[in-house]
Amino acid sequence: MYSTETLKRFKNPEFVGDMENPDAVGEIGNFKCGDVMKVYLKIKDDRIEDIKFETYGCVAAIASTDMMCELVKGKTLDEAYEMSNQEIVNGLKDLPPVKVHCSILGTRSLRDAIDKYREGISEK
Ligand code: FES
Repeated sequence: MYSTETLKRFKNPEFVGDMENPDAVGEIGNFKCGDVMKVYLKIKDDRIEDIKFETYGCVAAIASTDMMCELVKGKTLDEAYEMSNQEIVNGLKDLPPVKVHCSILGTRSLRDAIDKYREGISEK
């Protein structure tokens, strides 16, 4: 059901964890399943210097958000904001269609963090 890349990232995600003194935090709940995603950012010169996430989501949510973190690290905030779900699915070499909504948790949480950063809201 899941690609090898998805299972690899689920079993050994590189970007899972808390972050000390993040510059921005985004948090989103998934209305379809009730799962929650939190994304932490370190931002320098308008670029994502570091990124971490914590979630109560499923295999697809963990793997796709881990993929998203790898893709946006080092990008400008504008580039990261425009990241599409399809880029993440491509990076995972596929995701079952019924699980695509899980991958939206990461991108929506990332955009929430960027919005809050731009609005000057940085509480954890
Ligand atoms: Fe909730 Fe995948 S089923 S995030």
